[in-house]
Amino acid sequence: MDHFLYRDGTLHAEDVPLSEIAAEVGTPFYVYSTATLLRHYTLFDEALEGTDHLVCYAMKAASNQAILKTLAEAGAGMDVVSQGEYLRARAAGVPGDRIVFSGVGKTAAEMRTALEGGIRQFNVESEPEMQALSAVASEMGRIAPITIRINPDVDAKTHAKIATGKSENKFGIPISRARQVYALAASLPGLEVIGIDVHIGSQLTELAPFEAAYLKVAELTETLRADGHDIRRLDLGGGLGIPYTRSNEAPPLPLEYGVLIKRTVGHLGCEIEIEPGRLIAGNAGLLVTGVIYVKSGEDRDFLIVDGAMNDLIRPAMYEAHHDIIPVTEPAPGTEHATYDIVGPVCETGDTFARQRAMPPVAAGDLIAFRSAGAYGAVMASEYNTRPLVPEVMVNGDQFAVIRRRPTFDEILKRDTIPAWL
Ligand code: LLP
Repeated sequence: MDHFLYRDGTLHAEDVPLSEIAAEVGTPFYVYSTATLLRHYTLFDEALEGTDHLVCYAMKAASNQAILKTLAEAGAGMDVVSQGEYLRARAAGVPGDRIVFSGVGKTAAEMRTALEGGIRQFNVESEPEMQALSAVASEMGRIAPITIRINPDVDAKTHAKIATGKSENKFGIPISRARQVYALAASLPGLEVIGIDVHIGSQLTELAPFEAAYLKVAELTETLRADGHDIRRLDLGGGLGIPYTRSNEAPPLPLEYGVLIKRTVGHLGCEIEIEPGRLIAGNAGLLVTGVIYVKSGEDRDFLIVDGAMNDLIRPAMYEAHHDIIPVTEPAPGTEHATYDIVGPVCETGDTFARQRAMPPVAAGDLIAFRSAGAYGAVMASEYNTRPLVPEVMVNGDQFAVIRRRPTFDEILKRDTIPAWL
């Protein structure tokens, strides 16, 4: 469920007509619904009711500080994967003890920043990283709380570019070597082993892969405890998928996911963390773009819109589907037209949809890409020197620009011409 509905013939974000935002901000822009963000966070929080838990929003999905603050005020922690994300979370008011630091390549500088500012735990992914963290923490006179991310060798059954839990993926340490690596961790100064971490991939539309992974984590918990480790926290990662089409897709609900978690690891008495990103932000955001031209090709019509692959790269990068709807509500019974929907960037890859049936639109009309809240704005670039796409947040009948579009002057001034030119 989301809060983007037609009302009085026009698509609204909560109580705000998108045409009103477009008139003020220009297109393209991302718009997020506060109510949807909070609803999705609450679904996870409630799904884990009865367990000691923390929902750490994977902020890589959408990291504007307004989004982080909205979620943090509701009680969310954050999963960060870089110094930049850590600093963003802190700037948005997230306390260090609610931030977990994930990622395969944390540098000493990143470790230092997090140890200085406060951190809930590092999710460590390799022996060399563990040694580096031990050295940094010791040199600072600190103890770094750690979990070790294990790679359970489970097929997440998702797009190859976002599967992370198979042995050929770069993530985690092979579960077969877990005991050895935990023994090493226990022997190193500056570290305190507190738990286990696992994340097998993103946009999972079945529970079975989670179940396989979590059962392995449960077994490993018992083994490591028998080895003398105090395993008291399990970070179970993110990955629960969302429906990208309105029609027949029905991925498992957070509630069912919560039941699975309790069934597989609930008996261990561990504190539970999860790191959902997409399910919280995905259907809480739209990309709104304007039609520049409708162009007739040899055998097809192209809808050339002012949003492009640099603003939303998911279709080009993962062959992802986004529902695309007109902002003006079509009259009942309107016959669909068929378009290839493309941006102005000079590559054929700048195609959002091929032969997409939708209500007919004309130059000057606004259209909205649904399910664009996660991995949309954060993956945007300025390719083709197109200004970074702005972001807007709606809350009831109010809206605010939460990241404005840079001016061309600002863009041009970022380059520096060397003295010899
Ligand atoms: N935790 C870790 C360690 C992760 O690597 C990720 C996502 C998450 C949590 C959050 O997963 P989620 O709940 O959002 O599925 N750009 C791609 C998705 C990349 C996901 C990367 N890791 C896309 O647009 O589909």
